[in-house]
Amino acid sequence: MSDTVRKHKEFLFPVVATYYKEPLALVRGEGMYVWDELGDKYLDCFGGVLTISVGHANPAVVKAEAEQLGRLSHTSTLYANHNHADLAEKMAEITPGNLKKSFFTSTGTEADDMAVLAAKMHTKRHEIIVLRHSYSGRSASALSSVGHSSWRPIAAQVPGIVHAHAPYCYRCPFGLTFPSCNIKCADDIKNLIDTTTTGEIAAFMAEPILGVGGFIVPPPGYFEKAVGIARNHGGLFIADEVQTGFGRTGEKWFGIEHWDVEPDILTTAKGMGNGAPIAVTTATSEVADSFPGVTFSTFGGNPVSTAAALAVIKEIEDRDLRTNAKVVGDYFRAKLDELKDKHPIIGDVRGMGLMQGVELVKDRETKEPAPQAVAQVFEETKKHRVLIGKGGLYGNVLRLGPPLIADKSHIDELIGALDKAFSAVVL
Ligand SMILES: Cc1ncc(COP(=O)(O)O)c(C=O)c1O
Repeated sequence: MSDTVRKHKEFLFPVVATYYKEPLALVRGEGMYVWDELGDKYLDCFGGVLTISVGHANPAVVKAEAEQLGRLSHTSTLYANHNHADLAEKMAEITPGNLKKSFFTSTGTEADDMAVLAAKMHTKRHEIIVLRHSYSGRSASALSSVGHSSWRPIAAQVPGIVHAHAPYCYRCPFGLTFPSCNIKCADDIKNLIDTTTTGEIAAFMAEPILGVGGFIVPPPGYFEKAVGIARNHGGLFIADEVQTGFGRTGEKWFGIEHWDVEPDILTTAKGMGNGAPIAVTTATSEVADSFPGVTFSTFGGNPVSTAAALAVIKEIEDRDLRTNAKVVGDYFRAKLDELKDKHPIIGDVRGMGLMQGVELVKDRETKEPAPQAVAQVFEETKKHRVLIGKGGLYGNVLRLGPPLIADKSHIDELIGALDKAFSAVVL
């Protein structure tokens, strides 16, 4: 065990878990690759949970951060700063619909908390609908929203949050099949509101693709129906784009743009800063303007983090990485579908763009989850020098989210490692 890993285990909370039997200590990154302490090079297909969007140590982003760091590294939100203002203007430009005004923070948790708070302030109501299998972060409010027992160390601390069935077609909560199901999971939100709330809600908050939940992609028409019901009961729609933002799903800036619905509030983080701690809550003027009093965030709109985000957005635009995510993502998906034809442990392949999930099962008929297969695939792909992620309620979904700069040769390298790993699985 390296000294770094030993100290990690000795001095950090044990809940700060690491991947792999022998955890990796990473020291350097460049583009699609990272290096560990031993000098071994790995193809990074998880990007620190979909956060490395434009490549490790991206020169344009590093330059923007370094220059800003040397000039002015902190202001707080009590002073205006051009990066902060420019990024807010840019968010208004690239977010869908009438979203216009932004509030910057450092983490996805804070962005979601602010969205929920803003919705409550605007509607003057308190109840929130969230999805089972969702993830929102680590504050009391977020932990009460999380739709996984494994991510909840304590019972809900914040009242007024109810969980709708997830649009999880592979494991339909109603045992139905799309499209003949008529999207019952969306219709059920009406019953949920009628039976478990006061009947008038503040918001419906959902991830366009449930990330931690195992890249669950709602069927076409889901959001149109679900959001319509929420709005009929006075609720706003919060799109949590912490994972799906910034071109990740291909072609569009944001995942929700793949459905015909416009959010009242959008939250995003992760890929926005390519590793710089930055998150944002962007709302319509009506919502933002109705937030009473004053509020503050020490690091919100930090000049260095906002410089990074502006550089990330410019990279995505200049290199047309949203198109790349679509083109390379489609190639990736076709290759994963071929692996599914070959390996019976693959129960489902799903995703959009460079956000693809592979759900592993012991048996395709029973769909019994196979988290032990995921553990083996992890160790095998590591041997082949490829890093991947995992998720899902049962820990049986591979989460594959390479940086948006990936090309087909990187996908071939990943697919080759996965193919060998699936062949080596012993159940
Ligand atoms: C969809 C979603 N929302 C919110 C969060 C919380 O973000 P953070 O870990 O930056 O607080 C996450 C983190 O994974 C997430 O995936």
